[in-house]
Amino acid sequence: MFDTDVYVRRRKTLIGKMSSAPQGRRGIAIFPGNAEAPQNYRGNDYRFRQESSFLYFWGIDEPGYAAILDLDSGQETVYADDVDIADIIWMGPQPSVQSKAERVGVARSAPASEFGKAVAAAKSQGRTVHFLPPSRYYNTLLLSSLLGVPAEAVRKTAPVQGGTGCCGKAVTASEELVRAVISMRLIKEPCEIEEIDKACGIGWLMHTEARRGCRPGAREQDIVGRMEGITISKGWGVSFTTILSQNGETLHNHSHHQTITPGRLLLIDAGAESNTHYASDFTRTYPCSGKFTTQQREIYDIVESCNELAFSLSKPGITYRQIHLAVARHMLEGLSGLGIVRGDIDEMVAEGTAGLFMPHGLGHNMGIDVHDMEDLGEDLVGYDEDQKRSSQLGLGSLRMARRLCPGHVITDEPGIYFIPALIRKWKIEGTDKGFVNFPALEKYHGFGGIRLEDDVLITEDGARRLGPERLPIKSDEIESIMAEERL
Ligand code: GLY
Ligand code: MN
Repeated sequence: MFDTDVYVRRRKTLIGKMSSAPQGRRGIAIFPGNAEAPQNYRGNDYRFRQESSFLYFWGIDEPGYAAILDLDSGQETVYADDVDIADIIWMGPQPSVQSKAERVGVARSAPASEFGKAVAAAKSQGRTVHFLPPSRYYNTLLLSSLLGVPAEAVRKTAPVQGGTGCCGKAVTASEELVRAVISMRLIKEPCEIEEIDKACGIGWLMHTEARRGCRPGAREQDIVGRMEGITISKGWGVSFTTILSQNGETLHNHSHHQTITPGRLLLIDAGAESNTHYASDFTRTYPCSGKFTTQQREIYDIVESCNELAFSLSKPGITYRQIHLAVARHMLEGLSGLGIVRGDIDEMVAEGTAGLFMPHGLGHNMGIDVHDMEDLGEDLVGYDEDQKRSSQLGLGSLRMARRLCPGHVITDEPGIYFIPALIRKWKIEGTDKGFVNFPALEKYHGFGGIRLEDDVLITEDGARRLGPERLPIKSDEIESIMAEERL
């Protein structure tokens, strides 16, 4: 948890941003924290993870909490129940709700049941009730029942025009609140950057362990276990489900049943969550033999230079969409040099030919969530108001397209994949418009995929890769470190 004044200041800033309505007509902003989520029966819960915006504004990392910020009077209230003797028997003694509220600078606390009553009172007075779209089903149902509207409505975001569910008005999540929260969480504070650096340090250790474990005969699952053990021992756990597979052409491959086989590539995309819940997210791809084949190295070096290009272009003022497109161009030039695509590069960029090889975006925002705030709406988080999302494969999956500002934390994760089903589809449907040399592509059947990902902070005059040390990335560097580690 950060110092008390961090949370006090954040809530004050939020009130300042929620001022589109005149004083007296601003209403309340409600923040239900996460509840316990049972794995099967009640009492055998998944490890508790607090709702990220609750954590950001209210700091309390416990289940069963909620809070209300009165945007007119400025009153702040934290709602939760103090433990009783039954809780103490199973969980041990706990500090009081009031003392937890005071730790984050909130003077007033009340029992959990008062939360619903406060929302009902605001509704009956015709006050606006602002809320964020809930990420979990429990809070979706809670908001639906508190506000008396269908569950699907509370997961949609729209401008709030004074409606609170009374008079038959549909209620959705508040676009004003979503935009205000995004504007704050997008620009990381120094204390947050420190935490992300810590998460990156743990991520570095995880990936180093994994690279050392990447030896012929090892099981992918063993490597995952050793790698995840590191983040459990040094931080909160993984920041997302580990992707580790020799079938790296499947972008989010969560099966780890194979044995490391010489000649193949192992793609590892994994990150840590610090104890304060900040994420890291790195990807490296290793030759299982310890040395790349010529074909692997040629593709690897293109991806590595795309990663470097994106970093070198990253600075305030440029949009990440422009950088994605610069990377697409550079990738197509590399693939053209190998005879995989042919024709005018500008036309290929415009047609989206790079999407066949990189059907995802160059990167995303990262912070308390690994894909930061995507629960608040991918376009609201990743796009400026004058930007429109593309429908092309690849560019259309770009989750961060915004004009870069100091304090943005983003990932730089180009990749090249040879996905047999996608190649077949483009060939049959002529999607490539003649730019792809399909006979040349046959040699890449069974190649897999390569992705190389770093986490980047935008600074006043450029960018900095996050973490105390960068994982090795150049192909020569990878081969020599793998040779040393295998001695
Ligand atoms: N690291 C997984 C992703 O960015 O989707
Ligand atoms: Mn990522």
